[in-house]
Amino acid sequence: MDYLEIEGGAKLSGEVEIAGAKNAALPLLAMSILCKGDIKICNLPPVHDIKTMLLLLENLGASYSYDEDCATINTDKLDKTEAKYDIVRKMRASILTLGPLLARFGHCEVSLPGGCAIGQRPIDLHLKALELMGAQIEIKQGYVHASAPDGLKGATIIFDKVTVTGTENIVMAAALAKGETKIINAAKEPEVVQLCEILNDHGILIKGIGSDELIIHGRDRALLQIPEITVIPDRIEAGSYLCAGAITNSTLTLNRVNHSHLISIILKLQEMGYNFDLHEESITIKPSPKITPIQIATTEYPGFPTDMQAQFMALALMADGTSIIEERLFENRFMHVSELSRMGAKISLNNSIATVEGNAQLFGADVMATDLRASFALVLAALVAEGTTRVHRIYHLDRGYDRMEVKLAKLGAKIKRLSE
Ligand code: EPZ
Repeated sequence: MDYLEIEGGAKLSGEVEIAGAKNAALPLLAMSILCKGDIKICNLPPVHDIKTMLLLLENLGASYSYDEDCATINTDKLDKTEAKYDIVRKMRASILTLGPLLARFGHCEVSLPGGCAIGQRPIDLHLKALELMGAQIEIKQGYVHASAPDGLKGATIIFDKVTVTGTENIVMAAALAKGETKIINAAKEPEVVQLCEILNDHGILIKGIGSDELIIHGRDRALLQIPEITVIPDRIEAGSYLCAGAITNSTLTLNRVNHSHLISIILKLQEMGYNFDLHEESITIKPSPKITPIQIATTEYPGFPTDMQAQFMALALMADGTSIIEERLFENRFMHVSELSRMGAKISLNNSIATVEGNAQLFGADVMATDLRASFALVLAALVAEGTTRVHRIYHLDRGYDRMEVKLAKLGAKIKRLSE
């Protein structure tokens, strides 16, 4: 198994290219099930989750070719409707095939994703919404068996909680349903917006894109033709590199970003004292003479993202005072706290609230990555720790960060990938 070895104390400088967004690419890959002919999806990040989704599509009978950062997918011969446990257990986002498979074939069998390191993560809201659209759902032997022999029908759905993949699943199901589907309390994340915009540009009328109320006019199982699309930049990868610049107090430029997706992250960093230069598709973070402590509560977009909570916790360790970080989305997304503590961090937890003492003197240690974003937080802490840190179980990082150690090394970090 690979691990990362990081020598703390190096200043960073230079430019880093931000990849396409994993969490935008995954629903777009699942959307290929709604299409006929070839669909070419570009700016795909070369990360494991993308390969897993392509493998899942191939298992279902689709064909694809992969070249540079584009995949050309054809689902004309897709003839299986079972998303197997072996793949779903590797990647929860496999659940994104549920809506499209059911809408196109009138039935499907998708393994239940089960729990996950950051929380229980149920899919009850996805299932309830599909039932309102006329599906019959049964859970048998760990699988969701969904059927709607006469096709899905438009319905009014009110999500009890804002759910990103839930909204994406239902938008895709509604695209091939009969009639109009209204989603109230829809997610507004840029990844959801991109999916809606692409569908809207290719024959599915969707009103309210970017708002929390969507109206989708279904095409009653008439497949779509979408020749070529490009995935939006990864706002969480960008935010993570901004934190790398911030924690090492370096000047870093990130290219191929969309600032409008980064507002809550930029505002928090500004509150902490950092300054920025913004250009059309790039952003430069500059050092801060004093790092001010912060208060953060994670919420849905456009609020502060849960996917940046761990990285800001590492950064808060360098602040001049005590920061308060509240995790409101996932009940167990503080696994990095005990690993950061092994490096000398003083963080106390009270349910969903972490109190983070600043001015920390971190030292290198062996630590374990626990989930994707927590792993980046450990790397951030290692960049400023005294001595050598080894981050183990980095398969989490490989699921969602594009060649992270290569990008950080190019910026001047002393980081190496080694095998146990
Ligand atoms: C998406 O997960 C992202 N994954 C996550 O990215 C991200 O952390 C999360 O949204 C929140 O922004 C992808 O886009 C592939 P939710 P998702 O449904 O859709 C509860 C990363 O690191 N809920 O929006 O699974 C749920 O438990 C990750 O890249 C229900 O109760 O998250 C949570 O408390 C990890 N029932 C809240 O809603 C449901 O049926 C929001 O979860 C669905 C969700």
